[in-house]
Amino acid sequence: MKVLLVGGGGRENAIGEALVRSGAELYVVSKHRNPGLARLANDYGLVRETDIEKVIEFAKGWGIELAFIGPEAPLEKGIVDSFEREGIPAVGPTKEAAQLETNKAFARALMEKYEIPGRKLFRVFEDVSEMRSWIDDFGRPVVVKPLGLTGGKGVKVVGYQLQDNEEAKAYAEELIRKDGKVLIEERTDGVEFTFQVFTDGKRVLSMPLAQDYPHAYEGDGGPITGGMGSYSCSSGLLPFVPRKDYEKALETLKATVEAMRKNGTPYRGILYGQFMLSKEGPVIIEYNARFGDPEAMNVLPLLKTSLLDIAEGIADGSLGKAEFERKATVVKYLAPKGYPLNPIKGVKVQVDEKAIAKTGAKLYYASIDENFTLLGSRAIAVVGVAGTLGEAEKIAQNAIGHVKGELFYRRDVGTRESVERRIRTMREFGKEFDPNSC
Ligand code: GLY
Repeated sequence: MKVLLVGGGGRENAIGEALVRSGAELYVVSKHRNPGLARLANDYGLVRETDIEKVIEFAKGWGIELAFIGPEAPLEKGIVDSFEREGIPAVGPTKEAAQLETNKAFARALMEKYEIPGRKLFRVFEDVSEMRSWIDDFGRPVVVKPLGLTGGKGVKVVGYQLQDNEEAKAYAEELIRKDGKVLIEERTDGVEFTFQVFTDGKRVLSMPLAQDYPHAYEGDGGPITGGMGSYSCSSGLLPFVPRKDYEKALETLKATVEAMRKNGTPYRGILYGQFMLSKEGPVIIEYNARFGDPEAMNVLPLLKTSLLDIAEGIADGSLGKAEFERKATVVKYLAPKGYPLNPIKGVKVQVDEKAIAKTGAKLYYASIDENFTLLGSRAIAVVGVAGTLGEAEKIAQNAIGHVKGELFYRRDVGTRESVERRIRTMREFGKEFDPNSC
């Protein structure tokens, strides 16, 4: 089957590999030629992913039978609706359904209307003085969010990017003046985790949990990035997420899919729940309407079921099963020095692919071109897959030494020490955990 993959990052390199592994004849469109995808693809179209007319033109020219959308930006523009109008089935939510990610006020309102578990207190403000007096009356730390897509960089939390509620009010005012609206939420304390599921609008199939490292620097410091790495455990859980909290989080995702159906905005595709495991249980921080990047690179190498079968099942409403190998994974991303604020661009890096293959690690390319020139975002990911987290981390770490250039990465991704730090936080909340579950 001829499958078009839209997008050219590390996430898409993993999706493309899983599609080819399941027998797809792969075609790719993205704004740069990803060297990993270029080797997998029968043909490659260079076009902005949000230029829907041109993407459809490529698809029709190649006789594409199914489209798979990687990133959120084309979903926001309604790429799935456009493919469907052309009679080409597509994996991903429609423009309306993608609002779960692209309009944070829509997502929170849906959770309230259908009483989806894992809610938190929120308000949307258009008026600066109303916003200021609500935050004063509320009195506890808040989170300030722009309503639309920000590449993970617009959300600011009191105690982290904002010193106190005074700074929160100033930032919220700035957003009202810029966007006309702002979302204010109560701050939830705990440890974050990623829960991704496949859904055809009715059935919901779980993937292993993963944990992302969104901060640029070791020890969880520095600016928020798209994610500097992530890990997952052979159990499919995380060492600080007990089964009963996993079940609650799954209940939230199932209730979300059901609510979207009742709401007249049925959701098909990959649904990503970014949860905070709080003292009271899992709370939704955000939904994403696609695979996580890097978290796609944790789960897709473990997928035993054909991704092509899953993709067809999502598109035609006949989703069957999704089985994963019981292994641990560690993804470490290499990003240009200065990323995310002032990344080095236009310089070449050296990748010893043969040496990386010898370590047993998987290698995915992202924001880098076929001449191995850095394009300014996360560039290369290495992935260790093994029976235990310790072994997987070692494999990824060995591989990373075979990439040379103006790059940096987080040594602590998936290390025992960093995992134990998260366990300690949950222990302070009186949560049980199994330290040997990874
Ligand atoms: N890793 C976070 C995201 O994909 O949005």
